[in-house]
Amino acid sequence: MNPATEPTAARSARRWRNRFWLLVALLVTVPALVLLIAAIRFLPDRPVTYDDPAEHFKYGSTGGERESGFPYWIWQVLPTVCAKHLPGKGYESLGMIFEPGKTLPVGVSQRRNLGLDRVFLNCAACHVSTVRASDTAEPKLYVGMPSHRLDLYAFERFFFNCAADPKFAAEYLVPEIDRAAGGIGPIDRYLVYPVAISLMRERLLMLKGRFSFVAESPPWGPGRVDTFNSAKALFAFPFERLPVEEKRGASDFPSVWLQAARKQRDDGAPMQLHWDGNNDRVEERNRSAAFGTGTTPPTIDMTAIGRIEDWLLTLPPPDYPFPRDAALAARGKPVYDRLCADCHGASGRDFKGKLVGHITPIADITTDRARLDSYTYELAVNQATLYAGYDAASREPRFERFRKTWGYANMPLDGLWLRAPYLHNGSVPTLRDLLEPVEKRPKQFHRGNDVYDPQRVGFVSNVAEANGHRFFPYDTTQAGNGNGGHSGAAYGTDLPAADKDALVEYLKGF
Ligand code: HEC
Ligand code: HEC
Repeated sequence: MNPATEPTAARSARRWRNRFWLLVALLVTVPALVLLIAAIRFLPDRPVTYDDPAEHFKYGSTGGERESGFPYWIWQVLPTVCAKHLPGKGYESLGMIFEPGKTLPVGVSQRRNLGLDRVFLNCAACHVSTVRASDTAEPKLYVGMPSHRLDLYAFERFFFNCAADPKFAAEYLVPEIDRAAGGIGPIDRYLVYPVAISLMRERLLMLKGRFSFVAESPPWGPGRVDTFNSAKALFAFPFERLPVEEKRGASDFPSVWLQAARKQRDDGAPMQLHWDGNNDRVEERNRSAAFGTGTTPPTIDMTAIGRIEDWLLTLPPPDYPFPRDAALAARGKPVYDRLCADCHGASGRDFKGKLVGHITPIADITTDRARLDSYTYELAVNQATLYAGYDAASREPRFERFRKTWGYANMPLDGLWLRAPYLHNGSVPTLRDLLEPVEKRPKQFHRGNDVYDPQRVGFVSNVAEANGHRFFPYDTTQAGNGNGGHSGAAYGTDLPAADKDALVEYLKGF
C-alpha cells in the first residue's frame, strides 16, 4: 500500500511495530556484543608453551596459574612496591635465576586466563640451578638439579608480608603497573586490576593464615622447603594443635633425572620415593608435586605434566665438567662396590642393588629425624582423598600410594656431584665431609653459593658473602638441621683418608 494513502491508524501501528523490533534488536544485540567482547577478553585459557622439552620444563605452564596465578604485571611491580620485604634487589635476591632475554625467572610459567596474563611457579622453580667454576666465571644452568639457590622461605615471606602491607592496594600498584606496562586502558585501570589486586590480597592473606607454621619455623635457607607441612597447610591442618617435633620438616630439594629406572627395584616392586620413601608411584608423586606449583585436581594440566613426566623418565644427569683423576677414581670403585652399592646401586646409571629403593630404619641410619616425623599417618589419610571420584583408568586416578614410613629411602646417586649439600636436610656441605665422622663434619656453613669446590665435591660453603649477595648461615645445631647419622664402618666414615679421596673421585663420575 502506498504510505501516502495509508489510513492514519494503520500507519501509527506500523510505526510502533518498527520501534518495537528496533528495541528488541537493541536489547538482544547490545548485550550480546558486550558479552562477546567480555568473552574475548576474559574467557581464553591459553598457556604459554614451548616445543623444546627443556624450555617447557623451565617456563611452560602446568596449570597452576588458573588457580594460583599472580597477574603478570602485579608480579613485575611487587619488588618495587614491596622492596622492603625483599632481602635484596628484585627476585634475584630470592635466588631466582634470570636467563638473558627473559622477563620471568626460570621456574615461573605464564598463562592467559580470566582476561590477564597470570604467572606462577612450575617444577623448575625447585629443580633447576646453576654452577660456576669460580667467582668470576659465568653461571652454567643445569636442568633437573636441586635449586640450591632458591630461598622459598624468603619467597613465601615476601608475598605474605607484601599482601599485609598497606601498599598492597590499587592506589599504589596501578600507577606502577601503568608505568611498567607502558600505559594501560581504562578497563584495566578501573576494573580489572583493582579487582585482581583485592582478590590476590585476600587469597595471600588466607594462605598466610594457613601457612602459619612458616612464620614459626626457623628459616629453611635456600634449596630447602618443608614439603609435608606445606601439604598439611593446603589441607588446613590446625598447626596450633600439632606437636613442634612435627613442624620442622625442612628438606633439601632432590634431583629429578632418570625416573623410569626408579619404577623397578631388584625384587620387582617399585622404589620407595621421596626422602622417607612415603610413595612408590612416580606418576602419583608427580601429581603430588604439582600441588607445589599451585594446581588442584580440577585445574591441573595433565597434558603439560604428562610431557614433563615422560621427559624426566629418561633425562640423564649432566656429566661432571671438571678434570678427573682416572687412576684415583679406579681405586675408589672397589670401595664403593663393597660398602655402598647394595644401598645406592651398581653405578650412577645402573640402579641394581638388593637394598636400593628400600627404606633403612631410622635406628640404623640415625640421620636427623625431623623430616621423617613431619610426615604423619593423618596426612597420609588426607592425601588418600585426593582425586577421589576421578576415573581409576585415567591419567589421574585417586591417590592411593602414600604411606607413613619409619626411616629414609636408599636412593640411586645419579648426578651426585650436583646434589650438594647432602642428606635429606642438606646438612653436610660436601661429599668429602659426608665421609668424615660426625664430629669432624662442619657444624656451621653457608648455603646458596653456586661456585663449585671440585676438591671436596660440593659448593663453596665457607664464604659468607660475594658480589653483594649474602649466603645463608646453616646451623646444624638447630632443630631439624642435624648433620649426624650415615656414619660408622658401614657408611665409610672409618676408612683411611686415601680410600675416602679415591671414593670421592669415583663418585664424580655418577
Ligand atoms: C616447591 C618446590 C618444588 C616444586 C615446585 C616441585 N618439587 Fe619436586 N620435589 C621437591 C622436594 C622438596 C622434593 C623432596 C620431597 C621430600 O621427600 O621431602 C621433591 C621430590 C621430587 C621428585 C622425587 C625425587 C626422588 O627421587 O624421590 C621428583 C621426581 C620431583 N620432585 C619432580 C617434580 C615435578 C615433576 C614437579 C612439577 C610438577 C615438581 N617436582 C615440583 C620440591 C619441589
Ligand atoms: C644401609 C644402606 C646405606 C649404605 C650402606 C650407604 N648408604 Fe648412603 N644413604 C642411605 C640412606 C638411607 C640415605 C638417606 C639418609 C638421609 O638423607 O637422611 C643415604 C644418603 C646418602 C647420600 C646423600 C644423597 C643426597 O642426594 O643428598 C650420599 C652421597 C650417600 N648416601 C653416599 C653413600 C656412600 C658413598 C656410601 C658407601 C660408603 C653409602 N652411602 C652407604 C643408605 C645407605
